[in-house]
Amino acid sequence: MSMDTTLVPEPYVWSEPPLGDAKSAPTRFYTDPAVFKAEVTHIHLKHWFFAGRVEEVPNPGDYKTLQSVGGPVMLVRGEDGVLRAFANFCRHRASILLEGCGNTPNIICPYHAWNYRLDGSLAGAPGMREVPKFEKPPHGLIPIRMELWEGSIFLNYDDGAPGLMEHLGNMPELVGSHRLGDMVKTWHMEIETRCNWKLLLENAMETYHTGIVHAATVGAQRSVSFPTRGNWHVIQVQARRSIAVLGQEPPFPAIEGLTEQAQQGTFFTVIEPTVQFVYAQDCMWWLAVRPIAVDRTVLSVGGCFPKAYTELPDFAERAGPYYNRWEAVALEDVGILERQQVGLSSCLARPGPLSWRDDMVLAMNHWVMARLPPALVDDMMADGW
Ligand code: FES
Ligand SMILES: [Fe+2]
Repeated sequence: MSMDTTLVPEPYVWSEPPLGDAKSAPTRFYTDPAVFKAEVTHIHLKHWFFAGRVEEVPNPGDYKTLQSVGGPVMLVRGEDGVLRAFANFCRHRASILLEGCGNTPNIICPYHAWNYRLDGSLAGAPGMREVPKFEKPPHGLIPIRMELWEGSIFLNYDDGAPGLMEHLGNMPELVGSHRLGDMVKTWHMEIETRCNWKLLLENAMETYHTGIVHAATVGAQRSVSFPTRGNWHVIQVQARRSIAVLGQEPPFPAIEGLTEQAQQGTFFTVIEPTVQFVYAQDCMWWLAVRPIAVDRTVLSVGGCFPKAYTELPDFAERAGPYYNRWEAVALEDVGILERQQVGLSSCLARPGPLSWRDDMVLAMNHWVMARLPPALVDDMMADGW
């Protein structure tokens, strides 16, 4: 089935409960450490998460490290040019191996100097020759399942999970004309927030708040929702001019060859469970969340432009307003979400009625709840859905 680009937008995507009965999720969904623990087990360790862009590690020996819900991770490009992902700890006694990013001919443990090749195999283990039965081959770095889509790196701790393309469903069709694979990442920021990971993504999928929270920046917006196939959601903020900059003519032209639908506005997508990809007419940016605790989340915001734009002599000057906008709007959102987290922790907090403009909040609540143990969800609901 292909996405019909003339699709009539639908005002909301859920079939039940009826609109008038829809409520926000029980407060425990955002505040209960037991719910968070269940999410890690049943959602985060079983689904694809975004780990960066291939152009961040272009050459043999290039590496980049990141933290994930499942622990420290390294992305390494081998001598053979192949990008691989490994658990970033030593097979001797688990010291972290690499930090930050850079280029290295091999990976040497800073604790007892076991050393690994870029393909993860163990090359040397000082003093271990005297250990009876010790063999190097079983003690290479532990690989993590990785798939690439249009230059974006996704990892999954579950070797039995469906492939990335199956997970993405028909998303690649809707945003194909943006040609994300021809873009390069040029900017990135990370902040630690004091709110639940789901609040960051729910907020990023509704325009109900934009005229208020972002009165001084992006202002009021209008959006429509589309039905999707796969584990993702989308709204389109309607504006024929890029909304990736504030109140000025966009410094870059629209990407050539965008579909008529893509020219009409900006697609805000969420690829469940933890990343938003936003496609404006002239760029793409992401919001990726890394849950740490029920009320603590690292938010990563990054931006990509078509490679041809990045080669313009005045690229940096032109791109500045985009970075300013991404940072300012993200900080405005985090400010309100941290207030929301405090409110949700009240012993008197109860689910409130949702607006039709909260349609994606509900859709995303449903996606998560459908993957939690039913007994836990029933227990939460007893608190008053
Ligand atoms: S922990 Fe790495 S060599 Fe000992
Ligand atoms: Fe916002």
